[in-house]
Amino acid sequence: MSVIEEVKQKTDIVEIVGQYTKLTKAGKNLKGLCPFHSEKHGSFFIYPDEQRWHCFGACNEGGDVFSFIMKQQNITFGDALRMLAEKAGVEVPSTSGQKENREKFDKIYQVNQAAAQYYHNILINTDYGAKAKSYVIKRGLNEKSITDFQLGFSLNSRDSLKNYLLDKGFTEKELFEAGAITAVEGKDSHDVFRNRLMFPITDIKGKCCGFGGRTFEENQAKYINSPQTAVFDKSSNLYGINLASQSIRKEDLAVLVEGYMDVIMAHQYGFSNVVASMGTAVTEKQMNTLKKLTKNLILALDSDTAGEEAMLRCASYENLMQNEIKVAIIPAGNDPDDVIRKDSSEWQKLVNNAIPVIDYTFDIVTAKLDLSTAKDKTVTSEKLLPIIIQIEDRIRRAHYMQKLSRLVGISVRELESIVKKPIEYSKYSNKNKSTLSDTTIIPTFSQPLEEYCLTLLLQFPKLESFKHKLKPEYFENTENREIFIALSKNEDLDIIKNNLDYSIRDYLDKLINKEVPPGKIDQKMSFCILRLHEKFLRRLEMKREVIFAAEAASKGNTAGLSKLEEQGIDNSNELREVFSKKSADGQYRGDINETGKQ
Ligand code: UTP
Ligand code: MN
Repeated sequence: MSVIEEVKQKTDIVEIVGQYTKLTKAGKNLKGLCPFHSEKHGSFFIYPDEQRWHCFGACNEGGDVFSFIMKQQNITFGDALRMLAEKAGVEVPSTSGQKENREKFDKIYQVNQAAAQYYHNILINTDYGAKAKSYVIKRGLNEKSITDFQLGFSLNSRDSLKNYLLDKGFTEKELFEAGAITAVEGKDSHDVFRNRLMFPITDIKGKCCGFGGRTFEENQAKYINSPQTAVFDKSSNLYGINLASQSIRKEDLAVLVEGYMDVIMAHQYGFSNVVASMGTAVTEKQMNTLKKLTKNLILALDSDTAGEEAMLRCASYENLMQNEIKVAIIPAGNDPDDVIRKDSSEWQKLVNNAIPVIDYTFDIVTAKLDLSTAKDKTVTSEKLLPIIIQIEDRIRRAHYMQKLSRLVGISVRELESIVKKPIEYSKYSNKNKSTLSDTTIIPTFSQPLEEYCLTLLLQFPKLESFKHKLKPEYFENTENREIFIALSKNEDLDIIKNNLDYSIRDYLDKLINKEVPPGKIDQKMSFCILRLHEKFLRRLEMKREVIFAAEAASKGNTAGLSKLEEQGIDNSNELREVFSKKSADGQYRGDINETGKQ
């Protein structure tokens, strides 16, 4: 649940509004004098069921508790959120902290950058690096790869990097925060990397976040990484993404491998759409980075890892990518580095022959089983059903249900009835599902139409001219309304993002990256606007009717009643107008369909 939703759920609009105006009962709703304009008769209403307010008087406006506080205090959404969060006891991650952090981040990048240059220089220009360099060459890397990936060497010394960076003017604290040294002060403070081949790990823009270091010794951990810092968390980075992003976009395909050497070797042989997860389970963050570049992903992991990943997470990965994911099957005991070095055309073949990850999962589950026996039918179903039921795409879910049904000779209906039983269902539920934790803020009460409308506006700048046909009130969801307001003030996505409270930014990203089915965007947009307008009028009408009935039943003031009646007439006129536009539009769409068929 997003912070916004949590605050909403823990806040009672009646209590909040009650602090600003006296509320009395009006049927199951409440009414009072509008706190926003002066009036003698209350035309301001609260709808506790919906947690919304509406003023039928001069304001003729309404909203939720956030918009109430924003209007009442004349503050931004973010401030309203924080104010209500404090009242509700909900913790909002601080932004001021984030701003302060920016300077700290920059410093860390500077330290890392300087360290990368230092290591690189030692490797290519000094005698100290000679052994490491000959190792790299022996492994088949060329000069260009060494430069492109800024490979380096860390001296066999306790504090050479530390001293170098201190000389450059960085403080010990800064070195520590960048993960370059192990501690601040004390005799324990020394370089993190020693006598290792260094792989700088960068973000997509090429800023150095941290390092991996490979030893040449036998009895040491083969790889170590920078400790986690404010800018480095191994599991959220993708090795090589800075050099691969363009190709991934161009080829509309990303190939994910495990290791540093795999990436470098692939790039050296011209496969520049390859990135690495650096040996850990692929994370949601990594997937999201790739998803911005392409929807097509091939996993080319060592066979053990591939099997494990497929079993545990294949459906989650696909749901996240909203597409089928494939697996390139690497011969056991090899990794892409070996394969490519031996024969790069073999690698190309493996990639071309990649199979859908769910089919791959079927293969590994059934590999050693005898599907004519009852026992192995059970094993197969128990392993595959929990995966199949996670597939969100209904066609593909049905496809694999049928595949399983054929394999075990049990009808789809029977298999479905197994997963429908609640007890068995929980037994089948994937315990490891939570690995892909949902960090994106998604409004719980999603409004698909609102989201769709914003998605169109965000993704298609040519729809600019439609904006004025929409009003903030058409968006019932707080986040959506905020995004629309930001959007109507500007076109540039970066500026829009900056203008939005950070609590909404992840959600904005989600909309920006959402897939829009192909078709006539202009028409979709105008139809969408009509429907939003219609929904808005209907909501308004419902609110008005409820109030009208309650007012009429009590001895409500007649002036108020006739005003409500007037508004009702206006409303239904507007609604009629929307209807006629909608049907005209509908007819037009019908024409298109017919001609399309001919
Ligand atoms: P591997 O152990 O398979 O090594 O780890 P490798 O890539 O084949 O290395 P070479 O070929 O022997 O030099 C795969 C990847 O997992 C990450 C590294 O990115 C490594 O390349 N890894 C592994 C770590 O970052 N830390 C570890 O402790 C282990
Ligand atoms: Mn290897």
